[in-house]
Amino acid sequence: MLREGQNAVIYRADYQPPAYWIDTVDLCFDLDPAKTRVLNKMKVRRNPQVAPQPLKLDGDELNLARVLVNGQGTSFKMEGDRLVLENLPEGDAPFDLEIFTTCAPAKNSKLMGLYTSNDSFFTQCEAEGFRRITYFLDRPDVMASYTVTLRADKQKYPVLLSNGNLVDQGDLDDGRHFAKWVDPHRKPSYLFALVAGQLVCREQKITSRSGNDHLLQVYVRAGDLDKTEHAMNSLIASVAWDEARFGLPLDLERFMIVATSDFNMGAMENKGLNIFNTKYVLASQATATDTDFMNIESVVGHEYFHNWSGNRVTCRDWFQLSLKEGLTVFRDQEFSQDLAGEASARAVKRIEDVRVLRTAQFPEDAGPMAHPVRPEQYLEINNFYTVTVYEKGAEVVRMQQTLVGREGFEKGLAQYFQRHDGQAVTCDDFAQAIADANPGSHLANNLEQFKRWYSQAGTPRVKATTRFENGTYEITLSQSCPPTPGQAAKEPFVIPVAWGLVGADGREVAGGMQVMTQATETIRVDGLASEPVPSLLRGFSAPVVLEWDATDAQLLALLEHDTDPFNRWEAAQRLGVRRMLDAIRGSGAITLDDAYLQAMRSILRHPKLDAAFKELVLTLPAETYVSEQLDEVDPQRVHAVRESLREQLASALAGDWAWAYEEHKENGAYRPDHVSAGRRALAGLALTHLCIAARSSGDTVWPGKAYQRFKDASNMTDRFNALSALVVSGHELSRPALDRFHGMFRGEALVLDKWFALQAGAPDRGGNVLPVVRSLMQHPDFNLRNPNRARSLIFSYCSANPGAFHRADAAGYVFWGDRVLELDGVNPQVAARLARAMDRWRKLAEPMRSAAREAIARVAAKPDLSNDVREVVTRALAD
Ligand code: TRP
Ligand code: ZN
Repeated sequence: MLREGQNAVIYRADYQPPAYWIDTVDLCFDLDPAKTRVLNKMKVRRNPQVAPQPLKLDGDELNLARVLVNGQGTSFKMEGDRLVLENLPEGDAPFDLEIFTTCAPAKNSKLMGLYTSNDSFFTQCEAEGFRRITYFLDRPDVMASYTVTLRADKQKYPVLLSNGNLVDQGDLDDGRHFAKWVDPHRKPSYLFALVAGQLVCREQKITSRSGNDHLLQVYVRAGDLDKTEHAMNSLIASVAWDEARFGLPLDLERFMIVATSDFNMGAMENKGLNIFNTKYVLASQATATDTDFMNIESVVGHEYFHNWSGNRVTCRDWFQLSLKEGLTVFRDQEFSQDLAGEASARAVKRIEDVRVLRTAQFPEDAGPMAHPVRPEQYLEINNFYTVTVYEKGAEVVRMQQTLVGREGFEKGLAQYFQRHDGQAVTCDDFAQAIADANPGSHLANNLEQFKRWYSQAGTPRVKATTRFENGTYEITLSQSCPPTPGQAAKEPFVIPVAWGLVGADGREVAGGMQVMTQATETIRVDGLASEPVPSLLRGFSAPVVLEWDATDAQLLALLEHDTDPFNRWEAAQRLGVRRMLDAIRGSGAITLDDAYLQAMRSILRHPKLDAAFKELVLTLPAETYVSEQLDEVDPQRVHAVRESLREQLASALAGDWAWAYEEHKENGAYRPDHVSAGRRALAGLALTHLCIAARSSGDTVWPGKAYQRFKDASNMTDRFNALSALVVSGHELSRPALDRFHGMFRGEALVLDKWFALQAGAPDRGGNVLPVVRSLMQHPDFNLRNPNRARSLIFSYCSANPGAFHRADAAGYVFWGDRVLELDGVNPQVAARLARAMDRWRKLAEPMRSAAREAIARVAAKPDLSNDVREVVTRALAD
């Protein structure tokens, strides 16, 4: 039996069109933190395509005061959280439905629906938050025209914003005022937004390519205006890019971004009124790192691009989430690549994106929460805003571009928007439009098979074996896909494999694209004088694991000569992974060989390669990525091995690191461009290695230089990298540096997040991290109710520091369980994300494995769990 507030599982196959349509919504808000009054007047009509039935409106934590149909009181009943109206006018003619409710924004710690943050009002309606504001058909296929009137105290809430255009404003009695907004576009309820508070804005008028004028605004709290320039520039670039690359113009006179420090996710694409986590808006050289600047560019782009891919064409139901998210991530990745400009900066961005996919999505696809890009079922939709839906979804869109070509894809996208503008559609509709615009393409010819990428979960493996005989080179590729929960057997995928052959002299001798449709296929190249080295899956042309038993010599040749920068980096990763796995499976110790060290040295010293690319090549594979290649994981051992390799890389290349640091540390006036950011990244990596090497040699010079750099740095990137070099190397100067850092930035919430995260993510030395995390929870600046702060301390420890979290004494797991339960009472969405830190518990070595199971079972046994956490822990325990 389900308790109150607990849902049953929802299945994609059960989709039914809505029994009613809502054409217009007229909302009037009397904003008050303790009790906000919401008057909702709708025009409703039956959907003639559906058999007559009662109208069932979604609601959640609302106080219902009045319901009127065509101005008259009416009978109604409640079915759980739903408001059910049975005695509605006969026939298909529209009727007026008026609902009056109240809610309590100040008590809304879930941050879904209407809530307060720093004395301002914000909303978050995706996916199912609108029902926490008023009773409604809260599903994305019900699209309506919105008129919104906001009324509030004028002094406390001088700025009143909602979607669309401001059509009226003025003063009311008692020091109150009002603003009336009309959105010219129909939209689903999840795109509704309002903001009210003491905010200031940076604004900019632009004229688009097509000659239309637009007003762009970025709203923040009064002290933050000087940190909005980069977000505004990113927005201007986004508008220009979408029009230039895909012919998609801005369809609004006014486009607003508002920042809030209390936000469950990154940002939200509400029509014309995007609401952002401050983390993805605010940046100055003093407070934000290069990574922050890049993230802002891509998130601003992402939300802006949703205006077409998501808002103009939206999802029929939430199972289709990747329709908008996969496509929009693909678009923001392309945007960042295009802004990066030249080939090597594009490759750096591609490598970074693949790194996210492989360290976060591959584990998800191999664990208890594995699901197809288009899931078949969910208990809580919030749990399906995942790296699979977003990042793997983007790869599925990218493969479609690969299969039809770049121009073909632009045609396909044009077809998609032309066909479906104003509609709520499915992933099938998307792929169909791309295929239809490209008859005869690999995609059109294999469409049904290609769509298995939407329906089959799990990461496919492609095994490559090679043979050279009589001048003929053969590469045999075989695909398979491991079972995932609920999917034992898999059918072959369509897998585009970009390949090349590198000759003995380092020159490219052949290349092409093998579009695999069969389980096994062979590539054959004749007339070769000597055996080449294969470069497979160039640019990471498909989201698969390439199983290829390369020799060190082959990998070293690719690292030196491959024309594909992605595979050059990948060769270095493979060399590193192999060494780490050898040590983990062996004695735990390994001495790095000269060939590897020499290869790393020559990349570091390379006269032509970019600093950003060098930084990526010289960064060892992540612990989570290495762990995925093991059947049984002892995270502390994985950590110790990586640390040991890093120490050797630090000591053996000490002179080279010193050269790299001196060569890249000066970069003139700060600009967050790719070239200087790459130089700062390499200087930072060098400094870290120099401090690590100093640890074993007893040298005090480099830690001293790092401390000096930390104090004198003119930008956050250099300052934080220096601080992090001291913390990571465990030098005693890290304590005064951390204290000083806190003192310098005590008023900067986003910088304090970095301060917490750095300490929670520090390398474990004899179990010292957990006590630090526990004591930081008592710090006056810690606040579990603020998601950014909770993530910076608790997630940095539980999800991002495996070597410290997976303790043999289970204390990490006990801490995790306590925090999940504590957070669940405040914010279930955030709690469920934390719950996922245990996803891969089955792979753990004993005694961790049993202790982990016990900790999960303890959480699962708690009565009154949210749907969010309940779904994650039950799946984790299911066999
Ligand atoms: N649609 C948002 C995006 O990808 C995601 C999002 C923001 C979200 N806030 C949310 C999803 C809250 C669920 C709940 O840009
Ligand atoms: Zn999105």
